Amino acid sequence: MKKPSFAIRRATDADFPQLCELFAEVDAFHRNSRPDLFRKARRPARPQPYMLIEGPDTAIFVAHRGGRHLAGFILAEVQRAPDGMVHKRATIASIDTISVRSAYRRFGLGQRLLSRACRWARKRGATKVALGVYEFNRIAIDFYEAMGFRTIVRTMEQRLPGTSG
Ligand SMILES: CC(C)(COP(=O)(O)OP(=O)(O)OC[C@H]1O[C@@H](n2cnc3c(N)ncnc32)[C@H](O)[C@@H]1OP(=O)(O)O)[C@@H](O)C(=O)NCCC(=O)NCCS
Repeated sequence: MKKPSFAIRRATDADFPQLCELFAEVDAFHRNSRPDLFRKARRPARPQPYMLIEGPDTAIFVAHRGGRHLAGFILAEVQRAPDGMVHKRATIASIDTISVRSAYRRFGLGQRLLSRACRWARKRGATKVALGVYEFNRIAIDFYEAMGFRTIVRTMEQRLPGTSG
């Protein structure tokens, strides 16, 4: 299949309906994978101000064709933590969500979105990029590892005997 041609830019208000669709795809995947953790949200799951926050330390980048049709997006935030009791101060780019429509996966768009967000975060003073990913999301883990990420912390769980839900 011929590689489709997409460009990357900052999101605008006009992208809101398509960003809702893209978020809905990620949300459905998480809900289907772990119905004990995730529930179907009332639409839109994220109100417009949440998505298009144009604060200096938050950004959404989109992969688009012809300005309008979106193939994917990344939502990133630069987080600044001062010295703590035991933790050193840090300025870290946190990836909240990245998603590429199924039809456009494995064309390098995830890599381009991530690298654009990292470039932006670096200009904002970030020295590391971090994210959380569910263990069931093997594809995302493979993607992140291919991008050079390594696991530094694990969240573990087990069901308590005699409970459900
Ligand atoms: C994770 C995701 C964003 C990757 O986007 P993508 O555009 O397909 O990724 P790329 O084409 O840039 O892939 C870059 C590299 O990552 C690795 N990779 C990506 N998808 C992979 C897969 N399905 N299996 C194994 N490795 C994979 C490969 O090394 C790939 O390079 P290659 O194609 O030359 O082998 C996409 O699969 C997605 O949207 N998943 C659903 C949403 C999601 O789970 N988001 C993360 C949690 S919020």
